[in-house]
Amino acid sequence: MNVGFLGLGKLGLPVSLAVEAKGHKVFGYDISKQTIDDIKNKNIRYREEWVDKYLPNTKLKIVNIDELVQNSEIIFVPIQTPHDPLYEGVTKIPKKRIDFDYSFLKAGLKDLSAAIEKNNENKVVIIISTVLPGTIRSEIKPLLGTHTKLCYNPFFIAMGSTIRDFLYPEFILFGVDDENAAKKAQDFYKTICDSPFYKTTIENAELIKVSYNTMISTKISFVNTIMEACHNLPNTNIDDVTNALKMANRRLISDAYLSGGMGDGGGCHPRDNIALSHLSQKLNLSYDWFESIMMQREKQSEWLADLVIKNSENRQINILGKTFKPETNLILGSPSILLENILKDKGKKVFSWDPFIDVNFDEASKLLNWHNLQIKHTFFIGTKHASFVNFKFPKDSIIIDPFRFIYNVKDCKIIRIGDNTNSN
Ligand SMILES: NC(=O)c1ccc[n+]([C@@H]2O[C@H](COP(=O)([O-])OP(=O)(O)OC[C@H]3O[C@@H](n4cnc5c(N)ncnc54)[C@H](O)[C@@H]3O)[C@@H](O)[C@H]2O)c1
Repeated sequence: MNVGFLGLGKLGLPVSLAVEAKGHKVFGYDISKQTIDDIKNKNIRYREEWVDKYLPNTKLKIVNIDELVQNSEIIFVPIQTPHDPLYEGVTKIPKKRIDFDYSFLKAGLKDLSAAIEKNNENKVVIIISTVLPGTIRSEIKPLLGTHTKLCYNPFFIAMGSTIRDFLYPEFILFGVDDENAAKKAQDFYKTICDSPFYKTTIENAELIKVSYNTMISTKISFVNTIMEACHNLPNTNIDDVTNALKMANRRLISDAYLSGGMGDGGGCHPRDNIALSHLSQKLNLSYDWFESIMMQREKQSEWLADLVIKNSENRQINILGKTFKPETNLILGSPSILLENILKDKGKKVFSWDPFIDVNFDEASKLLNWHNLQIKHTFFIGTKHASFVNFKFPKDSIIIDPFRFIYNVKDCKIIRIGDNTNSN
């Protein structure tokens, strides 16, 4: 099939490569010259597994919007729906809640619909972008001409493993507006995988997408609350507690996202929670559950900041890891950056370093005073990058580890958050 992509960003490009790998011909258009140049130069700025494998040999055809319409039988739309930076989860959340910014998505779909009308032929358009429930019907559909046959197909993929998650999904979610368009999309998906195809209303699909993300944040907030309790309760260890909970896989669903550590992060989860808190207030729900999830995340970060301050008198504060999860260079919604911002709000000077973003260890060691034995250090592990296990901590450092994976560092004190087993 000939498949088009309006938007070749962090979601659009990897998915177009995955679709091509299944034997389809792919066409793409992106409004950003930088994005197009990066693709042409095979220079992708974010870490995404399997892209290196597929990008060198891709025959993805970069076209203009009219050619995209003429050449494609179905067109995916993965255009950004950003939250204001204050609502991404790297700063304390402002009191007022707001919706996502739909201006890019609306402008893109308006242009696409105009090109479809000009082409005078029905076209299946599949929106992937994350939106709050009710948005497609109230804000998007009125912009579209009669030849645009719409579906809403949000993805449950994690940044960094987009291609794998697209090729092997738990299920495919489809918000149906036009039955024929959904049938065509379903035929297309039969060529991709044999996961169940879940058809529902557009509004249900919108709600399922954001509920999926916030359910993950709920698990993480819950388990981090237990971690904080363990940190204060003698003879408890968070991992012993969660290892038991993880065995209850009939009633507690799966063991994923059930280890104590930093708060939930990434470009989707924190912002979706914050947006659902806005929806909750808009709908006047009896309790703003999403506020609680976000406040647990924020209060935990404040608690960690206080722990760092308590353990850094006459010491330099260092945060190791800036990214929102291990082995990536993405910092969107990173709880480590939230911690850094809270420490700065409290008047502290913070040095932070991430091996996937910054200069190498030797240079960092000079720049950040780690080689200077006159200075004592406190290190907080903000991201569980595997290489930190072999990090050369300066003598007499205090290491605060919310993941409990750093062991036996000579001449240093390690504070394992949530491990109070040897407290008696
Ligand atoms: N990245 C993910 O892992 C992920 C996962 C699930 C859902 N989503 C959702 O998918 C959407 C896209 O996310 P992303 O991370 O790929 O964003 P992104 O910013 O990386 O990519 C969006 C791309 O769309 C392009 N674009 C904007 N306006 C356009 C227009 N008028 N015509 C053509 N191209 C246009 C941009 O230049 C950009 O390259 C968002 O709504 C996001 O919430 C993303």
